[in-house]
Amino acid sequence: MKKMMGSQMLKPFGRATLCLFAAVFLTGCSQPEASREKTSIRIGVSLYRGDDVFINNIRSELEREAKAYERETGIKVNLDIQDAKGSQNTQNSQVERFISLGCDALCINPVDRMDASSIIDQAMTARVPVVFFNRQPVEEDMNRWDQLYYLGVDPKESGILQAGIVEKCYKETPERLDLNGDGVINYVLLEGESSHQDALIRTEWSIQTLKDRGVPIEKLTGGIANWERSQASALMEQWLKKYPGEIELVICNNDDMALGAIDAIDREGASGIGVVGIDGVESGLEAVQEGRMLGTVSSNKEQYARVMFSILADKAMGRELDPELELEHGKYYRCPQSVIEKE
Ligand code: GAL
Repeated sequence: MKKMMGSQMLKPFGRATLCLFAAVFLTGCSQPEASREKTSIRIGVSLYRGDDVFINNIRSELEREAKAYERETGIKVNLDIQDAKGSQNTQNSQVERFISLGCDALCINPVDRMDASSIIDQAMTARVPVVFFNRQPVEEDMNRWDQLYYLGVDPKESGILQAGIVEKCYKETPERLDLNGDGVINYVLLEGESSHQDALIRTEWSIQTLKDRGVPIEKLTGGIANWERSQASALMEQWLKKYPGEIELVICNNDDMALGAIDAIDREGASGIGVVGIDGVESGLEAVQEGRMLGTVSSNKEQYARVMFSILADKAMGRELDPELELEHGKYYRCPQSVIEKE
């Protein structure tokens, strides 16, 4: 009896040990290193709003990158893209679902960049790396874990480059902006969400740079249009009525609001007003080429998505990140931008 029990107890252990040795032997000696890697990865993406034009441009590029990666590596990519529709609670639930589905990495465009803590808590508990983009979480949150990354454009650079478009135009043909020839450019300002780093810093550096470079500007009024074409259009319509013939320049934190301002200018039959944007979205680039916008500051969206996808894929595969990325403090990447003016 005693003997039987002993052999019965040993049997499963013996089999398991044999299997373990066989597995170690097979994988360690006869299979190439790469074949032990995953053959598919799952990445959960949550967008703060699916109807944001710039975010949609980035989304398309990201999808393109994922397809190119599949073609090049043979690794299947499940890109699960969700729209948080402006609700942080919805986004938190999406993150919960991504984790329960076994996502290997998360790509989050936070609704409330000041309130990324629930996302970070969930990701840390499940040990799933996160790449935030476009809406930068506060530093204290970003420093909670070494598997948190942020990708965006440098808003100070966007503001300075935008000012350069106005400066160049004014210095080359002052009458193009100083429409009434009084030596002053009267401008109105269209700003993005008040809590967004890109709105606050772009405005500050655009205006400051123009002043520093001696461009004579004077503000008539300004307002928040939350990045949106229709809100910008409504504000601009009011201003055109309130300041008939006085507005000479519209400085916008993004292209979509610039296009909204142009819609109102067209509706009101005003002409000659200079409009500048930021983003270089497709509709913005067209408006520049058609001469309806003075210029825009375009972020390199292909590179934005390429770098973002490479971090996500490497994290999902459990690989080291490409050292050539040279991430600031090991976690921040700023995508390059350039000025676009009519050729
Ligand atoms: C900004 C961009 C805007 C809007 C916003 C959303 O960087 O310029 O167009 O997309 O992000 O967070």
